[in-house]
Amino acid sequence: MVSNIMVLGTGGTISGAAGPGDNVGYRAGERSVWSLLGALGAHAPAGVRMMAEEVAQIDSKDVEFSLWTKLATRCQHYLLDTRVSGLVITHGTDTLEETAWFLAQVLPAIKPVVLTCAMRPATAISADGPQNLLDALALASDAHAVGVSVVCSGSVHAPLHVRKEHPYRVGALSSGDFGPLGWMEEGRFRSAHPWDVTKPSDADITVALPANAQGWPWVEVVQSHSGARSETVDALASVGVRGLVAVATGNGTLHHALEAGLHAAIGRGVAVRVVSRCPEGAIVGVPAHGLPLASAGLSAVKARISLMLELMRP
Ligand code: SIN
Repeated sequence: MVSNIMVLGTGGTISGAAGPGDNVGYRAGERSVWSLLGALGAHAPAGVRMMAEEVAQIDSKDVEFSLWTKLATRCQHYLLDTRVSGLVITHGTDTLEETAWFLAQVLPAIKPVVLTCAMRPATAISADGPQNLLDALALASDAHAVGVSVVCSGSVHAPLHVRKEHPYRVGALSSGDFGPLGWMEEGRFRSAHPWDVTKPSDADITVALPANAQGWPWVEVVQSHSGARSETVDALASVGVRGLVAVATGNGTLHHALEAGLHAAIGRGVAVRVVSRCPEGAIVGVPAHGLPLASAGLSAVKARISLMLELMRP
């Protein structure tokens, strides 16, 4: 049976170009999504009919809310198209975990949506993009892969756990102590964890996503550290921030000055969520400060997305 896979390009190093021998001085988003598919040549997977659309061609450090809205809308369109079996999204590694978490929150889990990336530009002598793309195409054609997932360097990650943990290494993405959902091996998925789709398959985009940045609630991340000051939070509350994600030490504790600032911000109507700055695990129990915690295990950038979506719900 033939799988019809729609590949949505957004840019990133996977579509980057650089001079000979240069793996870091590249410009992201230089190659079109069609040229990435064309470069697969004879390696293009049998039984997969590839289609493509360029949604953006950017370095993912510059992702704006308008791109998220456009990407979610295009995904939704193809998810509802009965001729399309699955989606692949090419994306920069730098903020891939944010886009993956965002899409996992707003798209119905009815077909595979597989994000992939590369750490070396398309011009590198040993570019990792083509194999990652092949793995993503194979996963998007696999019956296991319902909902949003991420493929990089042979590992398959869940949106909740995936994060970029290395600035240079090809295997830059990790799922921490949870580990990957599984691995891609010669075009086949080998499972390590049950594929957990927590979203109901009939879920739809649950909030009307605003087309421009002004329509999104302003949510910032503040960090607890030695010598933290409440004025940081006071200043943000004074200029209209709607939400704050506080990155706490250890098991959710906060510098006393930041803690006081956050309590005062709540008094001014600012929504606050606390996450831990520890990269592994989740806060255990209830910290004495009593400030609301983000959902277990969310990183600061993902807790920020969840809070923005929460604030947009009617
Ligand atoms: C980007 O995130 O767009 C650049 C870095 C990368 O893709 O590895």
